[in-house]
Amino acid sequence: MSSKVREIVESHGSNPSNLIPILQDVQTNDGYLSENALAEIAGLMDVSESTIYGVATFYTQFKFVKPGEHEIRICQGTACHVRGAESLLDFFKTNLGIQPGETTKDGRFSLERVACLGCCALAPVMVIDGEVYGHLTTAKAEKILTEYKEGKR
Ligand code: FES
Repeated sequence: MSSKVREIVESHGSNPSNLIPILQDVQTNDGYLSENALAEIAGLMDVSESTIYGVATFYTQFKFVKPGEHEIRICQGTACHVRGAESLLDFFKTNLGIQPGETTKDGRFSLERVACLGCCALAPVMVIDGEVYGHLTTAKAEKILTEYKEGKR
C-alpha cells in the first residue's frame, strides 16, 4: 500500500464528498490514477471500487494511463477542427501507433484530444509539454515530432 495515497486520503478525510479532491491530489502526485491507487482509495474510504471508477471516469480531467515523457495534446475545438485538426490527430495516431488516451510502449509519448485551448487565432493548435504550437500543418507537426524523438526539444 502506498503511504502517499494513505496520507492524501487522511489529509482530506474519508467522507465521500472529499473524493474529487483526493483523486486530484493522487493524480498530481502520480501523474495519473493507477488501478492500485484507485483500489487503495476505495479501501481507505470504505467505498466500492466501482463507485470510485464511476466518479473518476465522469470527469475528463482524470487519466488512467501513465502519461508519456512527452504529453501531446491536439486541440479539436471548432476553430481548429475547421482548419484541419482531425488530419493532424490522424497523423499523430499513425506516426506513434497509439490512440488518444494512450501512451507509446516505450513510454516516450502520450496523445490526447482536447477541447479549445483558448488560442483559436493560432488554429490548428497542439501543446507538447505545455509548449503551444500553432498554424500547424502535418509537415510542420512531423518536423516538430521528429525533433522530440531525436531529443532536440
Ligand atoms: S479551437 Fe483550438 S484553440 Fe480554440
